[in-house]
Amino acid sequence: WLPPVAALLIGYLLGSIPFGVILTRMAGAGDLRQIGSGNIGATNVLRTGRKGLAAATLLLDALKGAAAVWIVAAIWPGLAPVAGAAAFIGHCYPVWLRFNGGKGVATLMGIALALSPPVAAVYAVVWLGLLALVRISSVAGMAAAVSAPVAAAWFQRFDIVLVLLALALIVLWKHRANIDRLASGTEPRIGSGKRG
Ligand code: G3P
Repeated sequence: WLPPVAALLIGYLLGSIPFGVILTRMAGAGDLRQIGSGNIGATNVLRTGRKGLAAATLLLDALKGAAAVWIVAAIWPGLAPVAGAAAFIGHCYPVWLRFNGGKGVATLMGIALALSPPVAAVYAVVWLGLLALVRISSVAGMAAAVSAPVAAAWFQRFDIVLVLLALALIVLWKHRANIDRLASGTEPRIGSGKRG
């Protein structure tokens, strides 16, 4: 029983590090949860006007997902997807923030990268492509998340299709306030300066 429990713990603990909140506070830019959409992700860090901080949040949130998979895969290769899923849950539901975490888009990118670089390539193209086209972070993020299980099936990585599908559904669930704003036409575009 030890390996699966260790994989879950390593994944969860790494994933639960709220880099957006930590970096924003360290930079003296306030409590991220009181800013914009209140989300702890890079998009909301961008609303503080600090582009470098937002980029660092994006990178570190992705890296912690990848690191969880890489570390566990080095010890128990079969448990890599378990570690990835646990890191994702840690990011979205961190015990340190009373389980009010992020929406999972950056962390899922890192997890996909560590599990399957081709899947991550599709994810990145969909994410960055839509970000450039529509400039709405939530739309790009949700579409990228949904593309992950589809790409995994396309590349015949049937071992990770279900876990990626489950994580994509959680990404959609976490974006329900964004979906409401999209339906009412009030979801802000990147750089619009509007509060999320
Ligand atoms: O990854 C989060 C992004 O898709 C939406 O963030 O702050 O606009 O709710 P936000």
